[in-house]
Formats: sequence, structure tokens, C-alpha cells
Amino acid sequence: MCASLDPIDWPATRAEAHKMLDVALNFLENARDRPAWTPLPTDVRRRLLCEALPEHGKPIAEVCQDMLDDVLPYSGGNTHPRFWGWVHGSGTVGGVIAEMMTATMNSNVGLCSHSGVLIERQVIEWMRQLFEFPAETGGGVIVSGTSMAAVICLAVARYHALNKVRQEGLLSLGVRLTAYSSTQTHVCVAKALELLGLGIQALRLVPVDEEYRMDIQALKNMIHEDRQQGFTPFCVVGNAGTVSTGAFDDLAALATVAKENNIWFHVDGAFGKIPEFSKTTTPVTTSLVA
Ligand SMILES: Cc1ncc(COP(=O)(O)O)c(C=O)c1O
Repeated sequence: MCASLDPIDWPATRAEAHKMLDVALNFLENARDRPAWTPLPTDVRRRLLCEALPEHGKPIAEVCQDMLDDVLPYSGGNTHPRFWGWVHGSGTVGGVIAEMMTATMNSNVGLCSHSGVLIERQVIEWMRQLFEFPAETGGGVIVSGTSMAAVICLAVARYHALNKVRQEGLLSLGVRLTAYSSTQTHVCVAKALELLGLGIQALRLVPVDEEYRMDIQALKNMIHEDRQQGFTPFCVVGNAGTVSTGAFDDLAALATVAKENNIWFHVDGAFGKIPEFSKTTTPVTTSLVA
């Protein structure tokens, strides 16, 4: 038994790593030469799903070979420029190198004085500038994606409505919170409400107009009716690009409704300001800074 996780044979491991980097680069460079997606053959599916729990380690070269035979050819397909299945980016060579270096550093950016913490802060500050959020109040955290962002943002909204919730919990406060988003909103908002203990029924789905934007008058009516029935409206969710059609809600109008009702305004910006970086589109997310 070896006492270290280091390779026993560094030169051979180095050669394997170089080979795999070339495989990765070839995969991206030659994406156009293969179909966008290759169905998983039954025998491969079985191998991936039904392998017995290994009792001993495998040489890294064999693991890499498994990767080449059974894994890489049957990936989701979104690295292909003509993959239109859903809204994934196709990834970049820079991303491959960045992930490799990230794994090399194996950082924990929770605290301490090291480069990863500063890079995270710098990226957040760049995003603040790109989105033109105010320097005094703008900030952020980097998360795995929009679903996780929705959980955090709705937790902030919940805290804004009930600032004792962190200590006392929802039950003891006895308040029935309600949130509002258009019928076109991504399911992650409902899931966030579920995870935060508010329940999916706390989400009011507001109808949309012919352009798939939230109907502002319907929103106002729903907030009013909920208040009359003893609910506490706590959050309006606007879409800066819906998942199905790319529709942008009238964010300025939603911000006004939220302000008038003293409720939190959250914007699902999965697509966000990106279209506005193009000089050919009309700005629609200016009110994100409101
Ligand atoms: C508008 C919108 N919101 C939220 C999400 C969920 O994002 P993620 O997959 O990063 O959790 C998506 C994903 O497609 C989306 O398009």
C-alpha cells in the first residue's frame, strides 16, 4: 500500500495527462465533424450504470481509456455549435484550461489570503460594472447557476419581509408569504420557494400579454386580493429573458409595483443583460439598477 496519493510513475502520468489534454482540444476543435449528439448504445449504458463497486483502484491510464470509450463520445452534445436542444453555451478552450487550473489549485475560497478569493471578488466587481449596478450598494456571490441564485435571492427577499425569520423560523412567525411571477417563469423559482419552506403554492402565476410579458394590471390585482385575504406578498420576480421565448418583462413597471407595495423585486437574469452588450438591441434592463 502506498502512503501517498501522488502518482507512482510521474513521467507516465504526465504523458497520460498531456494525451488527455490533446483529446479535449481535439474534441472541441473537431466538433463540426461529428453529429451534435450520439445516442448511448445499450452496452455502454449498462457499463456506465451497472458496474460493481470497485474494490481496488485502477491505473489512471485505464480510467482515461474508459473515458475515451464510454464517456466522451456520449456527452450531452452541447459543445457542438449546432446543438439547439436547450440553452447551454458550447463551452470554450479557455474554459477547459481554467477548469484544469482550478482543479490544480483545489481552492476553498471561503476565507484566508490567497489568489482565488481576490479573483472571485474581482469577477464580482467586473459584473457589477458590466451591469451598471451602483458601486455603494452593488455586490454579489458566484453560484453554480440560476437555480441556486434563485434560492439565495428568494431567501434574501424572505428575510427582507421577515427579519426575524433566521432566528425564529417561518412557523413561529405565522405569516403566509406569497410571490409573483409570470406564467413563463422558469421552474427554478417554484423550486426555490419549495426549498425555502414557503411551498410551491406560495407562487402566484401572473398571466402574460401577447408578447409573453407579465400583465402588470393582473399583478396589481393579485397582490391586492392576496392582501385582502391575509397573505403577505413578499416578492415579485421579473424575467430578463424567459427560458421558452426570451421575453423580457417590463422591468421598470415591475420595479415600480414592487416599490409601491414595499416588496422585494427579484430578476431572473439567466440571460440577463447579455443581449444588451450587443449594439444592435434596444436596452431593456436599465431598471435592474432601480
Ligand atoms: C430563464 C432561466 N432561469 C433559470 C434557469 C435555470 O438555470 P440553471 O440551469 O443554471 O440552474 C434557466 C435555465 O435554462 C433559464 O433559462
